[in-house]
Amino acid sequence: TLPPGVYENATVDLTAAPGLGPLKVTKVKTAPIDGQKPGTSGLRKKTKVFVEGLYLHNFVQATFAALKTAGSDVANETLVIGGDGRYYNDKAIQIIVKIAVANGVRRIWIAKDGIASTPALSAIIRERGPVWQKAFGAFLLTASHNPGGPDEDFGIKYNCENGGPAPEKLTDLIYKNTQTIQAVEMCEAFPDVDISVLGETKVAATDGSAMACVQVVDGIKPHIDLLSTVFDFDAIKKTLLSRPDFTMVFDAMSGVTGPYAKALFVDALGLPESTCVNATPLEDFGGHHADPNLTYAVDLTKKMGVDRTGRAVEAADDVPSFGAASDGDGDRNMILGTKFFVTPSDSLAVLAANSDAIPFFKAQGGLKAVARSMPTSGAVDLVAAKLNLSLFETPTGWKYFGNLMDSKALFKGVDYTPLLCGEESFGTGSDHVREKDGLWAVLAWLAVLTEANKTPGAPLVTVESIVKQHWAIYGRNYYCRYDYEGVDKARATEMMAMMTAATPENTGKTIGSYTIATADVFGYVDPVDGSVSKNQGIRFLMADGSRIVFRLSGTAGSGATVRLYLEKYEPTVFDKHVSEVVGELVDIALQLSKLKEYTGRDEPTVIT
Ligand code: G6P
Ligand code: ZN
Repeated sequence: TLPPGVYENATVDLTAAPGLGPLKVTKVKTAPIDGQKPGTSGLRKKTKVFVEGLYLHNFVQATFAALKTAGSDVANETLVIGGDGRYYNDKAIQIIVKIAVANGVRRIWIAKDGIASTPALSAIIRERGPVWQKAFGAFLLTASHNPGGPDEDFGIKYNCENGGPAPEKLTDLIYKNTQTIQAVEMCEAFPDVDISVLGETKVAATDGSAMACVQVVDGIKPHIDLLSTVFDFDAIKKTLLSRPDFTMVFDAMSGVTGPYAKALFVDALGLPESTCVNATPLEDFGGHHADPNLTYAVDLTKKMGVDRTGRAVEAADDVPSFGAASDGDGDRNMILGTKFFVTPSDSLAVLAANSDAIPFFKAQGGLKAVARSMPTSGAVDLVAAKLNLSLFETPTGWKYFGNLMDSKALFKGVDYTPLLCGEESFGTGSDHVREKDGLWAVLAWLAVLTEANKTPGAPLVTVESIVKQHWAIYGRNYYCRYDYEGVDKARATEMMAMMTAATPENTGKTIGSYTIATADVFGYVDPVDGSVSKNQGIRFLMADGSRIVFRLSGTAGSGATVRLYLEKYEPTVFDKHVSEVVGELVDIALQLSKLKEYTGRDEPTVIT
C-alpha cells in the first residue's frame, strides 16, 4: 500500500487509467428522476422509492456535482456518513461510499454501525484535531421523526463543513443537477465496509495509482465529550441528581439517542439504567412515530401524568420530577415536569431567561442573542426585550440559524455569535453545533433545575414552578399548533394562494373580537448574506398581539401537511387550558382559510 496523502492531490483520470481494480470508476447510465427537491430538512420519501433503481444514487451523484461547482475540496478533506439507524441505513451507506470514492473522495468516516444522531454528526464534522481531521461535509441518513421501515420513510440530507444543513444555494444546485443527470459515477468493485467494527480500511487501486481510506469511527463519544464542555456535569450530579426527591426518565423512542442517553445519563451522570427507556435503536422505531410530542410520545406522557392535550391526569404515585424524549435522529426534544407539559416555545423562553445557568453561555460573557422561527411563539421576544438580547425571526428550518451563528459580523467586537435558538416544532439548541440538539435541551433544563435548586435543604423547585414563575414575570403566550396531515397537495396549494391573494383585503378586517392589524406573507432577508427566502407562511397579526399563521410543511413525506399555528398573549391569566383560550382564533382561522372547503377536513390529525 502507498503512504497516505501521496495521491490525495492526484488528478488522475480514473476512468481512463487501466488496472484500477476496486477504484475503477464506472459511469452508470441513469436519467433524471422527478421530485428530488430537498425540503425543510433534506430529501424524504417512502423507503420503497429510495430503494428502487438509482434513486439514492442519483441524489448522491447530484450532490457531488454540486459540491464540485461550489468548490468543495472533496479530494483532500473528509466525508462523514451516519444515520438514525432506520431501515436501509446500512445499505445506503455502502452505496454512498462507492459513489463518493468514484467522485474523488479519498477519506471517509463512517459512524460505527452507521449510528449517529444528527447533532452528533454536526459535532463530528466540526471536530478538529489530529484524529478528526478536516471534514468537508456529511451525508445524514435520516427522515428524522418520520416512521421508519420498508413501508415507511427514508431520507438523506447533506450538511456542510460548518456542521449545518446545506444552505438553499446548494440544495437548489443539487436539485438542478437531479433534473439533468445522465450518469452516476461509481466504484462498483469497491468492497463493502464492515461498519460494525471500529478501524480503518485502506483500499488501493490494483496498479497502485490511487488509494481511498475508510474509517469506522465512534459516533457517540465526540458528542458526549462536547456536551461535557458545554455543561457542568459535576454540578448537575452533585446538586440535582443526588437529591432523593429528584427522579428523571428519558425516552429515546427506539430512535438513535438510546446509546447517547446511556453514555450520558448512566455512564457520565451516574443515574440508574432504568432512567433510559426505549433506548435500543430499532430499524422501524418499534413501529411508532419517533416524534416527541403529546400525540406520539405516549409512553412518556403516561408516565409523567399528562394526557394528549397536555392536561394533568391520574398517574402512579411515583411520577418522575423530570421527563424528556428525543426523536428518531436525536435533534428534537420534549420536556415535561411532574404532570406538566412545557411547550417548546415556552421552553425556549425559559432557557433564554436562565441562560446564565449554562456554562457555555456564561463563559462567553453571557448570551447575546436569541433566534426563533416565525411560527414559534413570541414568548422569547419578551425575554429578549427585558434582558436586552438581540432577537432574530427566521423562516422554519434550522439552517437559517446556522448562518447567524457563523456570522462574525453581527455583533461588533465579538467574532462569533453566541446564540440560543428554538422552534415550536420541538427543536432547541445553541451554537455548540449547527443542528438542534435533543440531549443538549435536556441538559439545559437539568442545568436550569440545578441552578434553581442550589440552596441545600430547600424543597425541590420543580419544572412546573419554574415555568409558572416565568409566566408571572413575562405573561403567558398561550400557543398551539394544528396539523392537517396527508391532504391533497394541489388543493392545499390553492388554499395558500387564495389567502396570499386576500392579504390586502384581510388587513384591517374585524372578525368577532379580533381585528387583523396585518395579513401578510412572511419573507426573510438573511442579515448575514442578504439571501432572500420568500413565501414562508401566511400571517394574520391581530391588533392585540395574537397571531394566526398558516404554512405548508416542508417535511411531509407524501401529500401535503397544512400547519395552523395559534397564539394568544395573556398578561395575567395563566391557569387556563390553551384550548379554552384559542377557540375563537381557530374559528377565525377556519373562516379565513376555508380549510374545510379546500381540504375536506373537519379536524386536525395532530395537535401539539
Ligand atoms: C425539521 C426541521 C425544523 C422544522 C421542522 C418542521 O425538524 O429541522 O427546522 O421546524 O422540521 O418543519 P415543517 O416544514 O414540517 O413545518
Ligand atoms: Zn429530527
